[in-house]
Amino acid sequence: MTITITVRKNGSLGITAEDAAQVRLVDHDGTPLQMPEGKAISICRCGKSQRMPFCDSSHKQSSWVSADIGCRVESVSAADDTPSAPQL
Ligand code: FES
Repeated sequence: MTITITVRKNGSLGITAEDAAQVRLVDHDGTPLQMPEGKAISICRCGKSQRMPFCDSSHKQSSWVSADIGCRVESVSAADDTPSAPQL
């Protein structure tokens, strides 16, 4: 399974996976969060979303500007779904 996390310029963290059902998002206590349907997830970075932790596009209405770190992280695990370290 491949999971790609894209740091969008002046926007959210975009998370895409071949099989979204294999992605688990947890809060600070490790409690699983309800995942939106689909293969892509957007996590808010600006702090303006009304449906945290997910992006609701509120960043587009604000003057928030992200740091330009130009980052893309991909994690690919073996066929047996053993977690692997992200490849930077
Ligand atoms: S990044 Fe989109 S609402 Fe915060």
